[in-house]
Amino acid sequence: MYSFDRKEYERRIGWFTDARFGMFIHFGLYSIPARGEWLRSDERVEAEDYEPYIEEFTAEGFDAGHIVRLAKAAGMKYAVLTTKHHDGFCLFDSAHTDFTSMKAPCHRDLTREFVEACRQEGIRVGLYYSLIDWHHPDYPHMGDELHPMRGRKDHADEGRCWSRYLEYMHAQVRELMTAYGRIDMLFLDYSYGDMRGEKWDAAHLVDMVRTLQPGIVINNRLEVGGTGYGSLVTDSPLPWHGDYVTPEQIIPPDGIRDSAGRPVAWESCVTMNRHWGYHAQDLFYKSPRALVRKLVECVSKGGNMILNISPDGHGRIPKEQEDTLREIGRWMESNGASIYGCTMAGLPKPEYGRFTRRGDRLYFHILDDALGAVPIQGIDRRRIAGIRDLAHGNVVPVATHFTYADYPDVVFADLGPDPRVIDGIDHVLEIRLKDDI
Ligand code: GLC
Repeated sequence: MYSFDRKEYERRIGWFTDARFGMFIHFGLYSIPARGEWLRSDERVEAEDYEPYIEEFTAEGFDAGHIVRLAKAAGMKYAVLTTKHHDGFCLFDSAHTDFTSMKAPCHRDLTREFVEACRQEGIRVGLYYSLIDWHHPDYPHMGDELHPMRGRKDHADEGRCWSRYLEYMHAQVRELMTAYGRIDMLFLDYSYGDMRGEKWDAAHLVDMVRTLQPGIVINNRLEVGGTGYGSLVTDSPLPWHGDYVTPEQIIPPDGIRDSAGRPVAWESCVTMNRHWGYHAQDLFYKSPRALVRKLVECVSKGGNMILNISPDGHGRIPKEQEDTLREIGRWMESNGASIYGCTMAGLPKPEYGRFTRRGDRLYFHILDDALGAVPIQGIDRRRIAGIRDLAHGNVVPVATHFTYADYPDVVFADLGPDPRVIDGIDHVLEIRLKDDI
């Protein structure tokens, strides 16, 4: 009988909740047709019309070192690469299939290059692996909810052997857990319909993964997909519970707590545009300003954010995505202390912005212009030891002008004559508290 070891869990998840910000990298065969990673399912593309793209998969522009250095410059502390997506094409040298980057004109183990680049740059290593596999003959086709050949009588499921597929899937996960050194996190993807939990033989899979990689952090998608929390939030987590919840393209309005009201580790996964895989026409990009503010919102609610990039058919990062990462990095360089190791402040959301907190450091993210000095409501002024401008370290005085005399219980931070949110993204004050709140 599995018993959830909360102490061990909290030890394991510590680096992840401290890190707060990661990079997702979606690269694969789907990057060539460039209509997103769900192309085969969405457009019901036959294998014989899709899989010949392998002949063009040179990945000559894929530079793992450049990608990971960009992640580091953006302030990201971990990175996750799609080693195999739903189309079944592997970016690693698997002994169990030839449908890999090694057998493409690329002739490279891109996962190994990625892992080595992460180690070189001191970034935690995350591997994404799809439980779903539209290439494998033993994965359900006609009767499946998502398969590109779903509903097709000429793709009946008679003769397909599910146990043989599980053997393949578990063997590949074993390859990823044994051939690439220490892996810090595993992003499995995803459960749907009755394809969840024990259908994946999840107990044996997790047992194998945790035995081979004792400190690894695993997501919750052996139980759920981009919606649903999984058994981590219940009072008796299952053996294959995720270590964190994975809200997709959404920030949980009030964060996520378990059945006992304890905060739960979670990570919003977010695309810069509207697709995970490269989509040549999708230029609907969120601004760096918006993405910084979403990261701040995640942390203010006790969560992480993983931000996706989608290298193109050659493996190169689109310019818009690289520019966005560098702009985010400029803000993170001066303000990362208000993100790393921070979480909910335990105070009501302030007017004009958000709070994040780490022990006796409270960070006030000013996201809106105030009329004059900025009110910092909800904190007894006697508990404030001092206020600093985080980016520049200068003292920020408490306003004493008569204008504020009617509100003696409210601290007004005097930011000086410029009424604008100075950097246009998020102006952070570090409030030193006299005790841990
Ligand atoms: C969903 C999508 C998948 C994507 C993942 C990222 O599961 O199906 O394409 O890789 O979200 O979280």
